[in-house]
Amino acid sequence: MKHLLSPLDFSLEEVSHMLKLAQDIMKNQEKYSHVCDGKKLATLFYEPSTRTRLSFEAAMLNLGGKTLGFQSADSSSASKGESVADTIRVVSCYADICAMRHPKEGAPMVASQYSRIPVINAGDGGHNHPTQTFTDLFTILELKGRLDNMTIGLCGDLKFGRTVHSLVNAMKRYPNVKFIFVSPDELKIPQYLREELTNEGYEFEEVRQLEDVIGNLDILYMTRVQKERFFNEDEYIRLKNSFILDERKLSLAKPDCYVLHPLPRVNEISVEVDNDPRAAYFKQVQNGVYVRMALILILLGLDKQFDI
Ligand code: CP
Repeated sequence: MKHLLSPLDFSLEEVSHMLKLAQDIMKNQEKYSHVCDGKKLATLFYEPSTRTRLSFEAAMLNLGGKTLGFQSADSSSASKGESVADTIRVVSCYADICAMRHPKEGAPMVASQYSRIPVINAGDGGHNHPTQTFTDLFTILELKGRLDNMTIGLCGDLKFGRTVHSLVNAMKRYPNVKFIFVSPDELKIPQYLREELTNEGYEFEEVRQLEDVIGNLDILYMTRVQKERFFNEDEYIRLKNSFILDERKLSLAKPDCYVLHPLPRVNEISVEVDNDPRAAYFKQVQNGVYVRMALILILLGLDKQFDI
């Protein structure tokens, strides 16, 4: 049984297959509307979510299946002290597949060790968010027609932003991808990631000012400062508006430098940017449904019947 805990759980070939399937789903939605008849997806969310949970539910409903689950730890027996291991044993009796979000890094991996159904990591602490990453890859491929030969700027909270860590791990597997990390010193990428990139020979730069590098980028990936991961409120308040992308800054970017953001946004992208043709973050949201439909099919082994 296959789980999805990290974007690296899929080989490059498997990622390519998943992206093709998501593209076919986008173009031929009716073809897939009954593939999951009789199947159930459980959404186990110990942390708040709008996009990930609802897009998983929309994905399963679009495939003809049904959904069940909880939206917060407080509304589940986790609030009475039930462990993740026991919860997944129970949910394995009710559903065919599950998506789990948890504030603790590694919780979905623990769940996978006790589960009788495929477990999808829907975000674990500051660690990984593979389904967002596959949505990002799909969006970049749709916009640029390639995943290689690319300079990607990642801007904002690079310390706590799990979407950043996941995306770097996924994109570094494609040839000639260069990363430019833009953050205040306090929110730089974690040391382990810097060491991995250095030891594995990948090209990257770390800078403090977006204006200094925005003109070199093919993709600008903006991120929110993650209030919920700070121990000190004053520190969050000091850093929360470190970067605000507005039309003036975006005017320095290439005409085909697309702006992505996993959302939710707070202040880091001014609403005036939303009307710029390079603003791709709401396209990303839509793409997340196609990608999660493809992932559900693959993890349930229901993709093989389709010749794509
Ligand atoms: N991108 C993302 O994970 O959004 P939610 O927190 O709303 O699920």
